[in-house]
Amino acid sequence: MSNWYKNAVIYQIYPQSFLDTNADGIGDINGITQKLDYLKDLGVDGIWICPMYDSPNRDNGYDVRNYYKLQERYGSSDDFDVLVDQAHQRGIRIIMDLVLNHTSNENPWFQESAASKTNAKSDWYIWRDGKPNGEPPTNWGAIFGGSAWTYCPERGQYYLHTFSPYQPDLNWESNEMKEALFQMVRWWIDRGVDGFRLDAINFLSKDLSFPDGPTENRQYADIYPFVANRPKVHQYLAELKRKALYDGKILTVGEASSATVADALSFANELDMIFQFEHVALDISPTVPWGAKSTDITELKRCLNKWQTQLHSRAWNSLFWENHDQPRIVSRLGSEDALREKSAKMLAVCMYFMEGTPFVYQGQELGIPNTKFYSKAETRDIEVQNAFTQLVDTGYYTEEELLERLSRRCRDTGRTPMLWDNSEYAGFSTVQPWIKVNERYPQINVQEQEARADSCLNFYKSLFRLRKSLQEVCEGEFILLDEQDPDTFSYLRRTGHGTIAVICNFRPYAVQFPSAKLYADAEILLSNAELTSLRNRNTLDAFDAYVIRIE
Ligand code: GLC
Ligand code: CA
Repeated sequence: MSNWYKNAVIYQIYPQSFLDTNADGIGDINGITQKLDYLKDLGVDGIWICPMYDSPNRDNGYDVRNYYKLQERYGSSDDFDVLVDQAHQRGIRIIMDLVLNHTSNENPWFQESAASKTNAKSDWYIWRDGKPNGEPPTNWGAIFGGSAWTYCPERGQYYLHTFSPYQPDLNWESNEMKEALFQMVRWWIDRGVDGFRLDAINFLSKDLSFPDGPTENRQYADIYPFVANRPKVHQYLAELKRKALYDGKILTVGEASSATVADALSFANELDMIFQFEHVALDISPTVPWGAKSTDITELKRCLNKWQTQLHSRAWNSLFWENHDQPRIVSRLGSEDALREKSAKMLAVCMYFMEGTPFVYQGQELGIPNTKFYSKAETRDIEVQNAFTQLVDTGYYTEEELLERLSRRCRDTGRTPMLWDNSEYAGFSTVQPWIKVNERYPQINVQEQEARADSCLNFYKSLFRLRKSLQEVCEGEFILLDEQDPDTFSYLRRTGHGTIAVICNFRPYAVQFPSAKLYADAEILLSNAELTSLRNRNTLDAFDAYVIRIE
């Protein structure tokens, strides 16, 4: 069936941290295969697996050395075939992560390109001369810190890297380079994959006039205006679609940070959906490095309402709170303590009854809070290592100050091992894992939650079962309620045949129940509260969530 994804649930796996089956402290392909029944039971229809290609892992696989080869530590090519086969037998589709904006600097393509100005791949990457004064070609800052240009003495030129120096950007103006990528994509399709999550896909086109940007007292200019969501990216993606993804059964989800609704509508010509990040950027401090601010719930509603209503019947939304680049959602919008599970359930209700395809990041179904970091040695992410150099080595923050902020914001918070049981290393491995285990594993783990009827995990199962049974959720119109109410997030999903309402209290305390009378006689379809009726309710308890049928 085409458009299978419209009623599907997709689970995101960070392979390095999912399950280690050969006791080397690193998750592996066989670990994913072993847990397919767990995923099936959760209601998962597809898995998106973060990159497993051969890589020096400067950015945990988002620096591909060889697109055709899997990393040895993840397993063999045969292991992968078994995974695809076993997943398909259970009706679970495989969505690979595809990194087309950049490769590793250790990729032979780059090494050849870097060797001279005249080699056959000399234009496969983006090379420029420095300024006459010896500075880099532009003052753009790389997303992971420092200049976006690195000098290559062998070639006597600078190469562009939107992310780190270990991730040189590919030049989509080179036809040969594009053909090489398209061929690789077709090769993976022939191996049986069902879709791709396209990494950083909105960065493919650059401002080829290479102007400097405004710096406003900072050392480097914001790179986004020169590389993100530029008009020509659509031309490149149309070509990718025509030449490599022509098989309409292949699902495509593009990661598009900073994309607007207008961008999303354009991407809909080429991709099934995108990940936009507006709703998970509302608690980021615009001024303090690694700083957080509290989310304004009316702002969150305004944001998601815009995406829901403006994409309806024109494009398709992805629905997510977490991924491997985001802190855990209970730590951001819920509770880490007594109300942790209740808040986790409320957040799931709020997000997953909207229109779009639900994405769940491993461990989110347990309501895992952020892993905390108490020393630099406990952290792993390249972006975090750069933060120590730029902010602690220069005296801007003490190590403790930075660690406190990182424990709320950094990408390592959600990248630690999946919590399977309460044994040492949480059942992830029998040896010390590559990164620390979340300290909460004795209480928070799959084994405990499977055995307890009211656990977050069991709630997620009921939620997805219900979601799939409701026509209103798949195709209904989205209508935001009580827009100005600062504490609750409520909406209707309505088709010609029926209406359901979703009511969520985002506060850790009881609040006024707006429009309560409307719901007095409604049937409760799902709730994280114990009530069986909403009659005579004037308040909502802490983190209450209800899905009800009103007509
Ligand atoms: C995407 C990935 C992120 C990676 C970056 C560079 O944002 O999600 O993990 O570091 O692209 O590839
Ligand atoms: Ca392993």
